[in-house]
Amino acid sequence: MDTTNRRDVLRAAVVVGGVALAGAGPARAAAPLGASPQSLPPLPYAPDALAPAISARTVDFHYTKHHAGYFTNLAKLVAGTPWATASLEAIILASAGKPDQTAIFNNAAQALNHNLYWQSLTPGGSAPSAALNAAITRDFGSKAALEAALATAAKGQFGSGWAWLVADAGALKVVATSNAATPLTTGATPLLVIDVWEHAYYLDQQNRRADYVSAVMPLLDWAGASQRFAGPPTAP
Ligand SMILES: [Fe+2]
Repeated sequence: MDTTNRRDVLRAAVVVGGVALAGAGPARAAAPLGASPQSLPPLPYAPDALAPAISARTVDFHYTKHHAGYFTNLAKLVAGTPWATASLEAIILASAGKPDQTAIFNNAAQALNHNLYWQSLTPGGSAPSAALNAAITRDFGSKAALEAALATAAKGQFGSGWAWLVADAGALKVVATSNAATPLTTGATPLLVIDVWEHAYYLDQQNRRADYVSAVMPLLDWAGASQRFAGPPTAP
């Protein structure tokens, strides 16, 4: 990982985590890699706030069963190890690509991916900052074109996974990942993410993923993405 990418990862980790704590896994003990503690953060809105696009029943199952379950599983997997007190970001970066740590990676990454998923949505949606809007125009031509690219990535992801807007090497990009994979491991900064695992929509739209994607697009929290795009506040 070059210097630029490492800086991007650190920035992304702090912003996605939302809490300025230092954490480090045993494989990268010298670097303050991230911020997200191994605890389920509160939903940023009421469970019925995203209806009818996403029903309260779906949010309840998704948050209290799936999202919470990843934290529960992770706690069991790292209990009694040096990773028991590491940040999610540190665990993800240290376990990525290691076959004997796949379960730990999957649960840590899914915990963090869902943290960002809930933060990527807001009732009624929101608008991007001038700075993010300028970058969107530069890299996609328009916000509508970006939304179309994001929707295409979400609809086209084969099987379970995620569609992301990321900042990577000075440019905005849309990427899709499978299962628990996260662009954090490539040095990109996640700005928005759409969960396209079936548990995100099956109670509401059954097999119609395209309908789910269309329904959530107006709920994207571009203001939150703008904060992640700007990065964490710098110390005076
Ligand atoms: Fe999910």
